[in-house]
Amino acid sequence: MTRSTTQAVGRVNPKMKVAVIGTGYVGLVTGAVLAEVGHDVVCVDRDQSKLDKIDNGVSPIYEAGLNEVLSDVVSTGRLVTTTSIEESLKGCEVLFIAVGTPSGPDGQPDMSQVKSVAAEIGKHVYGPLIVVNKSTVPIGSADVVKSWIVEAGANADTISMVSNPEFLREGSAVKDTQQPSRIVIGASDEASADKMKELYDSFDCPVLVTDVASAELIKYASNCFLATKISFINAMSHLCELTGANVDSIAEGMGLDDRIGPKFLGAGLGWGGSCFPKDVDALIQISESLGADPGLLREVKGINQAQTSRFIDRLRDELGGFEGKKVGLFGLAFKPNTDDIRDAKSIQIFKAVTREGGSVLAHDPAAGDYAKADHPELPQTDIPLEVARDADAVVLVTEWKQYNDIDFSEMADLMKGDVVFDGRRHWDKAAVEAAGLRYFTIGGGTGD
Ligand code: UDX
Repeated sequence: MTRSTTQAVGRVNPKMKVAVIGTGYVGLVTGAVLAEVGHDVVCVDRDQSKLDKIDNGVSPIYEAGLNEVLSDVVSTGRLVTTTSIEESLKGCEVLFIAVGTPSGPDGQPDMSQVKSVAAEIGKHVYGPLIVVNKSTVPIGSADVVKSWIVEAGANADTISMVSNPEFLREGSAVKDTQQPSRIVIGASDEASADKMKELYDSFDCPVLVTDVASAELIKYASNCFLATKISFINAMSHLCELTGANVDSIAEGMGLDDRIGPKFLGAGLGWGGSCFPKDVDALIQISESLGADPGLLREVKGINQAQTSRFIDRLRDELGGFEGKKVGLFGLAFKPNTDDIRDAKSIQIFKAVTREGGSVLAHDPAAGDYAKADHPELPQTDIPLEVARDADAVVLVTEWKQYNDIDFSEMADLMKGDVVFDGRRHWDKAAVEAAGLRYFTIGGGTGD
């Protein structure tokens, strides 16, 4: 079946009544796309200001294509909102828990939001209900969540727990949900597995039905494997810098082996965002708690940290220290096409420069508001090239397409110094050097 990027899939028949608790990236996109295929969806969030936006067909998060889907499903009444879990349970057949599970101080996922949702469900549920964990939760959580629901008053026989992890990427979350690579359903009984298959009937992709623990582990395994792939190429990037080899050629040469594949071999400042850091930490912690050796994942995490530190060290060396130096940052988001700055390398660089007496000016096409809220002390500009004004060095942190057409001569005129650090191998070394600037990047092959 061929589909456009803004349209999901065929319509379902029969439609189901679905509740989605939490309107973050995962919950809102899941709810919107399930409504798009024809289900009746209630989205629940305790933040009324978010719901007001959704009710107007406007997404509270920056995500390509989401406004279009939302305005369609809200105007046709297939997606409604409420702050009340009790309200959402009326007639509900399938309830998704999609609230945050941030890393706690020990790396263990913080389940407090899931726990309070479970208590609300337990208090108010009155019919048979499939409760789906969409949040990334520790292996074995389905039983724990069910026990919280039952403790709060529900009859255990009426609650079926399912794990149905999401694999969506920020920036392409709508498309990833409309056209998933696979749907994984971890169910403890056949009836709820069948009901979940029915829910996703109109999606054209492989559906894997398995046990709950396997589904929970598939999510961690997938994200940790992708993080491993990136850390692997980043380890190669260091060797490239030391040997004169070119990491792009290494990635290309490896990726042509279809057992390896070319994706997620982009060397750069390392991985960040809301999932990889949290999930790698969680699987390390889970492994330790079960007596398994998390050595591989510790190394994957260590390489990621070292990758950014090495870059900052090189920048400091080139500037002869950060004291009194001004550094312009192109990009704040942890990757392009998102406004998310969670575990973004921009913040790490900002902190290192300012801690050592330097200053920073940053630009980002989308993440400015979040950055201002979390780091009000981080100076920003709305005009990309302004970051170069009087700067001793500029750093490309996020490879936004808006930075493809930077006029390097204009940049050189604005700068005080001549140091350009490209953290994503995104700019053309020859073009930067033609403007009289010095170009440095990760992964060698450029003669620097
Ligand atoms: C990821 C997974 O891809 C997704 O399946 C899961 O559901 C959530 O976590 P996301 O965090 O949105 O999605 O971003 P992704 O595009 O995977 O990038 C993650 C990080 O890896 C970013 O910091 C990105 O810059 C970095 N990255 C990615 C690289 O450094 N090199 C690459 O080749 C790819």
